[in-house]
Amino acid sequence: MSRLLRIKPMSMLSKEAGEQGEHTLKRSLGATNLITLGIGAIIGAGIFVLTGQAAALHAGPAVALSFVLAGIVCAFAGLCYAEFASIIPIAGSAYTYGYATLGEFVAWIIGWDLGLEYGFGAATVASGWSGYFNSLLQQLHIYMPPRLTATPGTVLVFFHERWLPLTSLPPGTQAAGLPHVTALFNMVAILAILFVTTVLVIGIKESANLNSAIVVVKLGIVGVFLVIGIYFIAHHPQLARANWHPYLPPSDGHGNFGWHGIATGAASIFFAYIGFDAVSTAAQEAKNPQKDMPLGILGSLVICTILYILVSTVLTGLVNYKELNVADPVALGIDATGVSWGSLLVKIGAVFGLATVMLVMLLGQSRVFFSMSRDGLLPKWASAIHPRFRTPWISTIVVGVVVAILPALLPVDRLAELVNIGTLLAFTIVCAGVWVLRVRHPDLHRPFKTPFVPLVPILGIITAVYLMTNLPLITWTVMIGWLLVGLVIYFGYSIKHSKVQKLPKAAEGD
Ligand code: ALA
Repeated sequence: MSRLLRIKPMSMLSKEAGEQGEHTLKRSLGATNLITLGIGAIIGAGIFVLTGQAAALHAGPAVALSFVLAGIVCAFAGLCYAEFASIIPIAGSAYTYGYATLGEFVAWIIGWDLGLEYGFGAATVASGWSGYFNSLLQQLHIYMPPRLTATPGTVLVFFHERWLPLTSLPPGTQAAGLPHVTALFNMVAILAILFVTTVLVIGIKESANLNSAIVVVKLGIVGVFLVIGIYFIAHHPQLARANWHPYLPPSDGHGNFGWHGIATGAASIFFAYIGFDAVSTAAQEAKNPQKDMPLGILGSLVICTILYILVSTVLTGLVNYKELNVADPVALGIDATGVSWGSLLVKIGAVFGLATVMLVMLLGQSRVFFSMSRDGLLPKWASAIHPRFRTPWISTIVVGVVVAILPALLPVDRLAELVNIGTLLAFTIVCAGVWVLRVRHPDLHRPFKTPFVPLVPILGIITAVYLMTNLPLITWTVMIGWLLVGLVIYFGYSIKHSKVQKLPKAAEGD
């Protein structure tokens, strides 16, 4: 039992954080890089797709309040992540924090669980990306073989010069006479993941630069949407007032609308916030992690929260919430203003914007495996650094290939729910870890301190667990299955090869 609870000594972590040379990752990211890395990971399928569904099905115009609520949940966790990232500036994020505080077994669980967040997260976004990409190509009258654009078994029909899933045809449309095919697998999503993997192998600096450029495009398009939308609303206030009324539609008795609907909406758009924590996986590549990691994590979270509240408010003012359950609600919103080039622009923005989300998620996943391998919990090849590019190239390629298979075969909604549950579990452990470390090492130098400990960590745990309870049983089942596979690997390999297990017992007090 005591073996499972062995913690990684702070002295060992500090030594790793200070390492330099060709076998280490390159410290090249500044505060701005880290904030853009965060925004690159956060703004994606959540705002471009899920906002519309959450408004139409759960919260109505009050979806803006769902964003406030989910933002508060993330803020508790974000403050805890920031404290850890400033103390332990090592690649590995929640996994590393768990190792330093709650012991090797919890660390393993969390490292393995992060696969659900980052690996499945990249897969989910790849799936959303392929939808936008196909839609954009079709708007330009370019057609991919439809069989290679969706998950196996999806029936696609040719309607109004586009291949669409049968399920997204407008209500009342007669599908019987339309040409149709059944999809084999989603080739477009595979190619997207493999492309991003190649960029990541070539180098972190190049990846961060590409990410920064795309984040500018993404923010620009969100900005264009807001400017056009606010201008239109200012000139048609009666239309917006009608759309915003009732702001909180009456409850349907099934947890939707009314006050409970705001919470249901928050659980669903939680996906939109995932990614700020991915900043902490790049801690070992930050130039000045003590100061810049909290800035990167909290800065990106604050910027995105403000944008989300604005976008959802403007969107529900432009289009009645009941009409927003579509795959491209932001494009629909801009269409409502009469600006004809708007939807094309939004689709281009989504295609670039979702690509950066995949980039940061895959970066995070390979860095977690890198850290686990460094600790002896995964085989050595997972931490091999490419001599020229100085990136963990083998784990990046292995992760890329495995992740590419998921969106090709699995439906996007199942993937997204797994991402949510995996992330919320990670949040819970990080919040608990901050509290434990305060008790165990009260005098440790903390460049950033989470305020009001233990209140903030406790609220972080309660709110994260509350959102988890809103996820379906099948998601819980798959997560437990995933963790059981992890246990087999832990007891079959990791515990025997762990470096911490080989340390003299006295080292733990360091
Ligand atoms: N927050 C990311 C998104 O919305 C995962 O796509």
